[in-house]
Amino acid sequence: MLNRYRFVLQEGMRILAGWLPHVATFELKCELGRTLWENSLHVNALYLRLREIQSPAFQKPADPALLTLMRELIHAPDEFALALGLFHVVTPSLVTALASHETTTFPNSDLPSVHVIKHALLDLRGQLERSAPLLEQATQAGKIRPAAFAWANEIAKLLASAGGISGEQPRPKNKSPVVPSCRQPFKAPREAARDERFTQRAADLSPMPGEDDYSAHTIEEFERYSTEMLAAETIASVMFSLSEMPWEFQFDCARHLYDEVRHCLMGYEWMRQRGMNPLHSPQYLHIYKWRSQFPPVMQYCLLTMGNEMHAFPYRHRRVEAHQKSGDQLSEQFVRYDIADETQHVRFGNRWLPELLKHVGEERPLKKYVNDVLAIWREEYATGKLTLNVE
Ligand SMILES: [Fe+2]
Ligand SMILES: [Fe+2]
Repeated sequence: MLNRYRFVLQEGMRILAGWLPHVATFELKCELGRTLWENSLHVNALYLRLREIQSPAFQKPADPALLTLMRELIHAPDEFALALGLFHVVTPSLVTALASHETTTFPNSDLPSVHVIKHALLDLRGQLERSAPLLEQATQAGKIRPAAFAWANEIAKLLASAGGISGEQPRPKNKSPVVPSCRQPFKAPREAARDERFTQRAADLSPMPGEDDYSAHTIEEFERYSTEMLAAETIASVMFSLSEMPWEFQFDCARHLYDEVRHCLMGYEWMRQRGMNPLHSPQYLHIYKWRSQFPPVMQYCLLTMGNEMHAFPYRHRRVEAHQKSGDQLSEQFVRYDIADETQHVRFGNRWLPELLKHVGEERPLKKYVNDVLAIWREEYATGKLTLNVE
C-alpha cells in the first residue's frame, strides 16, 4: 500500500510538471507548483521507508487499474479539468486511504510508516483547503466547462475501478472501457501560458535603470523577480522530459521549481506592498519559448550554468545597496534568494555530468558547458533577449 501511495504521488509530480507551463490561471499555477514540491517530500519519505521493506524500493504497482488511472490523469481537456481530477478525485481518495492506514496499522511496530503518513496528510489536506476556493471562484466565474466536469467523472470511474487509492474499496464489475470525448491527448507545451489579467506577455527590451539610480533600479529588480515563473516553467519542462532520471534528480528539480515560484511571489509581494500591479509587468514569455527549442539537458545547463551561476556578483551588490539604504526587507528577500540560488547552481553541478551520460552526450562536461554558454552569451545575455537573472 505504501508503494501505491508513493506511485500516485510520484506520477502526480510528473503530471504537474508537464502541465505547469500550460496552466494560465496564476494562482492555480502557483498552487500546482507547491503541490508538486510538497508531494516530492512525501515521495521521498515513502521511498526511505520503502527501501527498508522491499528491494528495489521503487516498484511499479501490480494493479493495472491504478496504472491506468495515473496514465490517464494527464490527458485532461484543460487546466481546470486537471485540477478537478486531482483535487476533487485523486487527492481526496489518497487522504482517505492514508487516514485509514494511519489508524489501522500497528501503532508501535509500524510507527515509521505512521510518521510518514501523518506528515503527508497534513500537506494533502492543506492542498485540498487551498485549492477549494480557487476552484470555487473558477466555477462562479463560469470558467469550468462541462468537459472539465465530464473529465472529473471519468477520472472518478477510473479511480473506482482501481478500488480507490487504497485498492481496498469494492471495484465495480468491468465494462469495456470507452475513451471519453472530452479526453485531450497531452502534449508538452512549447509556450508558457498567462491568464487574461496579464497585460504584457511579450518582450520589453528596455534596459534596466542603472544601479546608481537606487530606487528606479530596485523597482525593476523586484519586477524581474515577479517574472521568475519562467524559470519554474523551464525546470518543469526539464523534469517532465527527463522523468527516467534517478529519483534524487526529480527531488532536486521539485525544490528548484518551487523555489522559482517563491521568487516570483516574492516579487509580487514586494510590488504589491508599494501599490504596483505585477500583473501589468512584462512577462518575457519569449524566454521560455526560446529555451524550449533546445533539448532538455541544454535547457537545464542554460539555466543553472548561465543565468543562475552568473547572477551572484549582481545579487551581492544588491544586498549591499539595500543595506546602505536601510531597506531591510529588500535585503532579506535578496539574501533568501541567494541561499536558494546557491542550491540551484549546486544542483546544476551535481546533475549535469549525470544528464550528459543519460543522453549519451559525447563532449566532455567542460566542453559541453562552454558550448552552451557561448549560445547563452550570444543569444541571451547580449540583450537579443531581455536579461533576466532568475
Ligand atoms: Fe534559480
Ligand atoms: Fe530564482
